[in-house]
Amino acid sequence: MRTLISPLLKGLSITALACAIALPAEASDSKTSEPTVKQKVVKKQKRKRDPRAKIYRTKSCMACHGRNGARAIRDYPNLAGQNAKYLKQQMLDIQSGARVAGIEEETGHPRTKGMADIMHLVNKDEIKGLADWLSDLPPAKLRPPEEPVTEEQIAAGKKAYKKLGCKACHGKDGTKASNKAYPIIAGQKKAYLIHQMTDMRDKIRVNAKSKLMYGVIKRAKDEQIVAIADFLSSIQRKTKKKK
Ligand code: HEC
Ligand code: HEC
Repeated sequence: MRTLISPLLKGLSITALACAIALPAEASDSKTSEPTVKQKVVKKQKRKRDPRAKIYRTKSCMACHGRNGARAIRDYPNLAGQNAKYLKQQMLDIQSGARVAGIEEETGHPRTKGMADIMHLVNKDEIKGLADWLSDLPPAKLRPPEEPVTEEQIAAGKKAYKKLGCKACHGKDGTKASNKAYPIIAGQKKAYLIHQMTDMRDKIRVNAKSKLMYGVIKRAKDEQIVAIADFLSSIQRKTKKKK
């Protein structure tokens, strides 16, 4: 349904949409499906009107991190449902240059560069707003892996995750961090997870609380990192409970 509505929404202005909703005549041809579509449009419209959503759309975040922070392109991270405190710190650090990343093959630049280049468009208050907004959004739905992953591989990842002691900070299966400033790592993209674990092991990513990772991640072999990424990317991130 989402794919059906979104191209439709794209072309319409808010006013045009408001008119479409206000006209009851439109609803008469299909009694059963119309209210659901209508409700969805209203919900989407409400979400779109949120000033933070507007910042997200107009300051180019959406181009890289996808619709509502849940459809990132390439090996870029999905953001929806992440801890707000963590998100805020990472944005500030990418803005200031404190967080950098390994080199992206396609561009020859550190993977953080494209984002760092646009971060002058947002101020601290907007960053805080974006962090809260993104954190409350429903997380990305799991998608089948690009290349099939065996049960054995996922089990190996789970075992390495347990053995290396990741649980102490990221929870049993990566869905619940032990501190609000730590990231939720379940349901994240495999390639992104591999990049981060490797960048921290190689001390390329050194910002914020990265130090906390060094002791454990330095013991992780390449194949364990891949297996852990397979394991974590196979777990659905939880939707945040409403306060
Ligand atoms: C040109 C592409 C691009 C744009 C535009 C962009 N980002 Fe990013 N963003 C990235 C990439 C790539 C990373 C991960 C870098 C890495 O691999 O270390 C990232 C990382 C992040 C992170 C840290 C995620 C984590 O789990 O640690 C947050 C939060 C974030 N972006 C939010 C935003 C917001 C909000 C905007 C708009 C103001 C934005 N980004 C604009 C590409 C982009
Ligand atoms: C002592 C606490 C601690 C332990 C143990 C730990 N981590 Fe972390 N991890 C963190 C913190 C804190 C961060 C965020 C660093 C920052 O502030 O930038 C992080 C970040 C990450 C990230 C990047 C998330 C993102 O969105 O960019 C991944 C992936 C990760 N950890 C995986 C692991 C794995 C796998 C293990 C076990 C091998 C592990 N961590 C063990 C505390 C820990």
